[in-house]
Amino acid sequence: MGTALAGKVAVITGGASGIGQATAERFAEEGADIVVGDIGPADETLRLVEKTGRRVLYVRTDTTVEADCDGLVAAAVAEFGRVDVGVASAGIATAAGPSNVQTRTASKDATHVVNLDVAAFQRVLDVNVTGLMMTGRALARQMLAQGTGGSIVNIASSAAKIPLAGASPYCVSKAGAWMLTKVMALELATTGIRVNAVGPGYTATPMIGGIEQNQAAYDLAMSITPMNRLGTPAEIAAACLFLTSSESSFMTGQMLHPAGGQFTG
Ligand SMILES: NC(=O)c1ccc[n+]([C@@H]2O[C@H](COP(=O)([O-])OP(=O)(O)OC[C@H]3O[C@@H](n4cnc5c(N)ncnc54)[C@H](O)[C@@H]3O)[C@@H](O)[C@H]2O)c1
Repeated sequence: MGTALAGKVAVITGGASGIGQATAERFAEEGADIVVGDIGPADETLRLVEKTGRRVLYVRTDTTVEADCDGLVAAAVAEFGRVDVGVASAGIATAAGPSNVQTRTASKDATHVVNLDVAAFQRVLDVNVTGLMMTGRALARQMLAQGTGGSIVNIASSAAKIPLAGASPYCVSKAGAWMLTKVMALELATTGIRVNAVGPGYTATPMIGGIEQNQAAYDLAMSITPMNRLGTPAEIAAACLFLTSSESSFMTGQMLHPAGGQFTG
């Protein structure tokens, strides 16, 4: 238990699972009350936050729906009176669900651009880029109205910078999330609202569930991961904590890579 976010109110999209869930738990341990926005139920996250003694609110939210993003922030304000911190972790790997690394090893070039379905491409951009924009917009509007400043973290990916054959929707979406982060950071730089990104490497969450049982996919992932292991959701949450706490008060428009040594050379 720490005090890095004591008295803060944190909104976390994608908070029902994986990185968002670990972030909700860690932020609560650091003293924040938590608002979870997710398209699916978040019972386990609610249990984890309640265990810390902090308060938690779940708001069913589809981040591709403008009214849902605005409603998430409005519900947070109705319950807790303010919003200080936001983490946008809602995201998808492919329109169909399975992760890129598994799809790419299973079907070789079936997911290459020459074979790509337009609707599948657009769906990933809707969730991973437009969803982040609408989430960040709702959060920033509230923070501006409060006049308190705040900190927003977008979960991008190392795929924002690494082109992966067969994963064009994901790579393009994450590059977009990263650029969105920098533009918002510039636009808000003098307001006290900081906007940063976390770009994880391969992390053991349901998004890449079963990868350790799929030798070809695991080997492909490890071939670009010098530490030769998956990250844990808690390790990604720790980067989110740094970027949302006052320890990073002079940082905006940056992306941290908890990624097992990617980008070392
Ligand atoms: N796991 C990894 O290896 C990895 C690596 C780099 C980046 N990321 C990114 O981290 C973020 C979190 O992923 P994760 O690994 O925790 O996956 P996850 O599948 O465990 O969690 C994603 C959550 O987002 C929610 N979600 C999906 N679409 C939504 C929508 N339209 N509206 C609201 N909620 C929605 C899901 O219901 C789920 O709870 C994603 O943006 C992902 O791209 C993950």
